[in-house]
Amino acid sequence: MALSGKVALVTGGVKNLGAQIARELASVGANLALHHHSASSEKDAAKLAAELKQKHPSIKVVFYQGDLTSAAAVTKLFQDTLKDFGHIDIVVNTVGKVLKKPITEISEAEYDSMFAINSKTAFFVLKEAAAHVTDGGKIITIVTALLGAFTGLYTSYAGSKAPVEHFTRGVCKELQSRRISVNNVAPGPMDTPFFYPQESPEAVEFHKANGMGDRLTMVEDIAPIIKFLCTEGAWITGQTIFANGGYTTR
Ligand SMILES: NC(=O)c1ccc[n+]([C@@H]2O[C@H](COP(=O)([O-])OP(=O)(O)OC[C@H]3O[C@@H](n4cnc5c(N)ncnc54)[C@H](OP(=O)(O)O)[C@@H]3O)[C@@H](O)[C@H]2O)c1
Repeated sequence: MALSGKVALVTGGVKNLGAQIARELASVGANLALHHHSASSEKDAAKLAAELKQKHPSIKVVFYQGDLTSAAAVTKLFQDTLKDFGHIDIVVNTVGKVLKKPITEISEAEYDSMFAINSKTAFFVLKEAAAHVTDGGKIITIVTALLGAFTGLYTSYAGSKAPVEHFTRGVCKELQSRRISVNNVAPGPMDTPFFYPQESPEAVEFHKANGMGDRLTMVEDIAPIIKFLCTEGAWITGQTIFANGGYTTR
């Protein structure tokens, strides 16, 4: 059990990719601090709690709720986790919001929301993680394959995830002496409810046709990469790992 005794904090960690990352980390013994946001995610938290208790009865799992678009809320999440677990060894931030629209139709409120969720939250999670993750720890942010593609209509989405690459490079250098690795993982268009609402059936087919085997990225393609970064992949730092079945290359 490579992560036995370790504590992993996963934001957005009760459904879709976040829940799959929680399962992967639990499978190698990590205790889990799992954050969720909306009231509708409560039932996902309850379902995952029951599943983890049944499959991994010896690990500790605690759930936290919060809108993480303020620095104070991110600080509170870390303080609550430290109070419950005593230390944090791994932080995985999966918080994100997508918007597919021509720039001419994007309002100031939409811009502010996109940058608050994709950029500001990522920054303050990195800040708290840098302050609190134990020496030798791991910090990972989920970004997007669109950082490796020039694609119209996702300007505010790719644009608000893009700063995270630079945040990560900077924090990686700041934490090198403490042997803490800091990376991003960039999935391709992924088969979760996050993806579909803004896509037409034709666009879904286009995204599928651009991936290996004519399919979308699955959460099961991505979560093992997170586990790898937290275990044998510890020498990788300051990187954005693109995992998208060839959807985009660079
Ligand atoms: N699905 C894709 O096509 C795809 C492709 C590449 C990258 N990604 C990225 O992968 C990550 C996970 O996406 P997913 O597909 O697994 O969908 P998801 O479950 O909807 O992930 C997004 C998470 O962000 C949380 N969130 C949104 N606003 C928040 C806020 N103000 N405060 C705190 N949390 C907030 C959501 O919680 P609530 O739903 O409760 O608000 C949700 O848990 C995201 O960062 C996304 O950008 C997704």
